[in-house]
This record gives sequence, C-alpha cells and structure tokens, in this order.
Amino acid sequence: MKAVFCNKLGGPENLGVSETKAPTPGPNDVHIRVKAAGLNFADTLQIAGRYQSKLEPPFIPGMEVAGEIIGIGSAVSRPLTIGQRVMAFMRGGGAFAEEALVDSEWLVPIPDEMDDVTAAGFPTVYGTSNFALKHRGRLKKGETLLVLGAAGGVGLTAVELGKQMGARVIAAAGGAEKCGVALKHGADFAIDYKAESIKDRVREITEGIGADVVYDAVGGDAFDQAIRAVNWEARMLIIGFASGRIQQVPANLILVKNISVVGVVYGAQTEKDPAYGASFVQEAADLYRQGAVKPYTGKVFQLKNAAEAMKALLSRQYAGKIILVT
Ligand SMILES: NC(=O)c1ccc[n+]([C@@H]2O[C@H](COP(=O)([O-])OP(=O)(O)OC[C@H]3O[C@@H](n4cnc5c(N)ncnc54)[C@H](OP(=O)(O)O)[C@@H]3O)[C@@H](O)[C@H]2O)c1
Repeated sequence: MKAVFCNKLGGPENLGVSETKAPTPGPNDVHIRVKAAGLNFADTLQIAGRYQSKLEPPFIPGMEVAGEIIGIGSAVSRPLTIGQRVMAFMRGGGAFAEEALVDSEWLVPIPDEMDDVTAAGFPTVYGTSNFALKHRGRLKKGETLLVLGAAGGVGLTAVELGKQMGARVIAAAGGAEKCGVALKHGADFAIDYKAESIKDRVREITEGIGADVVYDAVGGDAFDQAIRAVNWEARMLIIGFASGRIQQVPANLILVKNISVVGVVYGAQTEKDPAYGASFVQEAADLYRQGAVKPYTGKVFQLKNAAEAMKALLSRQYAGKIILVT
C-alpha cells in the first residue's frame, strides 16, 4: 500500500510517500481501507516531535480516518461487518495511508447520508468539542460561549455544538471571510481579531457581563484578552495553543470572579475510556443525521500531496477542515 511517512522530525517538508507492507490486525484491531483522512493541527505537532504522544520516525502520521472495514481482529466483540463504513479518531497516528488499523472501540459507523470526505473530518473535531463543552465546560442553555479560532477545525464545531446546546455564541476568528463562515454555522456574533479587540467587543456584546464559557484553541494573546472579558464563575476551556504561545494564567484574575481554568484533553481521555470518548462522536453523528450540524471542508488534497496539505493548514488560509483522499 501507499503511505505518507514522517522520515525525520520537523516540518511538512520531511513527509514523503512510499510503498509499504499493509498492516496486520491484532486481536482488537479493525482493518480499514482508507477512503479519506482528516488533517489536524496536532499532526503538525506530531511530525515535529511536539505532540503529547511521541512517535519515532519513520512513522505514518494522521489521526482522523474514514473508510470501509476489510478485516476484523479475532477478539473484537462489537457487531461490525466487512464492508461497513466507519470513521475514527486515531490518537496513535497511521491515518495517512491506503490502509489502517483502528482499535474497534474507537470506531463510529458513518451515517449513510455522510460522504467519505465529510466523515474523515468529523470524529476528532466533533468529539473534542462535544466532550469539551459538555463534560469539561458544563455549558448551559442561555449562557454566552466565546469561541477563539472559531473558523478552524475544532473551533467551527464548537460554534455549531454550542448553538445546539442553546448558548449564545460569539465567534472570534482572523479575517472577514472566516468570520462569515462562523456566522453561517450558527454564531450570533463574530469578532475579527485581526482588526478588533476581543476584550472590548465581548464586553460590548454582553453589555459588560462577559462570556460564561470560553473555548480556546488558540492561546497566547487571544487568551490574554478573553480572560479579561468573562462573567462570574466563567469556565476557560484550554483546548490548544495554535498561536504558538502557551499563555501564563494570572491567578489574581481567576480569583476575583471565581473563574475556572479547565484543561481539556480528548485524546488521552479517549485512551482511558474509548467507549466514552467515542460516545461524543456518536452523539454528534446523530446531530448530523438530524441536519443539526453541517461539517465544513475547506480544501481536499490527494494523499500524495500530504506535505502541501499540511503547509496549507499552517498557512491558515482555509476555514474548516483540510482532507486527504486516497
Ligand atoms: N485538547 C484537545 O483534546 C484537542 C483536540 C483537538 C485539537 N486540539 C488543539 O486545538 C488547536 C486547533 O486545532 P485544529 O486541528 O482545529 O487546527 P486548525 O484547523 O488549524 O485551526 C486552528 C485555528 O487557530 C487559529 N490560529 C491562530 N493563530 C494561529 C497560528 N499561529 N497558526 C495556526 N493557526 C492559528 C487559526 O484561525 P485564525 O486564522 O482565524 O486565527 C486556525 O483556524 C490545536 O492547538 C490543537 O492541538 C486540542
């Protein structure tokens, strides 16, 4: 089979495509013919050796996959069938290939109405945001949710799911086009943080009260501004640091309004309890079936152009998801 390999830790230029042996499933594995794979910011960290779970080169990156089952391990007890269409978050990588192995418990059946490209960009981002807003953020109906990086992979799903949970959603993103995408996906207000102050605009929109929950996949300056525009008992959800700067949290600001700064790690949580992790994807898939969420694909590349695709992700030029097709 053909696969994308990270041959040396560093940037996308170290990715190459080569022929390799197809994987052999272990007892708990499901063997998938990959139709498409989703790109995530975490892939850029993983190939640079900066992700939480480290892999030694050469390895096949890719943490989000959609395809059809071609083999089932001997110890798999779930009622899965050969030919069934499935999608999965794959924390250990391996999705950027023509075939992949996934732990059976991480798999979620693809709704019939969902195409492969959409499915490939679904499980990691919707799973993360659903878990973050419900399990960690305890977002309630009527609360104000501020999403930073709101047109990105995870950000846009937080906008949609926040809206579904009955929140008033303020989307903060870089540029008018990305703000437009967030508004189309349900945001009530948009802040273009390339041109406007997050702190001032959130205060203005909420008439001085501030946001109840902040979904922060960006970190750095965006976090520094957002924490100055939150309500009493706000929850700041720490999702990631796409800006490249891991913010320091001023403890005095947390104290004065009973603010909680809440860590969110969907991948490691799913490793601890795969069925629980996958349940957040399943729930989002049910919302998709009802037409309540509309995944957005910004760009599709061929598998062999994975390096170019990863450069495009880092360039921030596309909203939504970037997908590789085999
Ligand atoms: N905690 C978890 O369980 C979990 C799960 C999934 C992802 N994450 C993390 O969440 C973050 C976003 O992941 P993603 O896959 O959604 O990425 P993505 O699709 O690339 O989106 C990241 C967004 O961050 C914004 N951004 C601001 N400064 C940036 C910079 N210097 N470089 C790149 N983007 C920048 C961009 O929006 P603008 O151009 O609008 O600013 C972009 O849309 C990453 O840090 C990732 O590791 C965490």
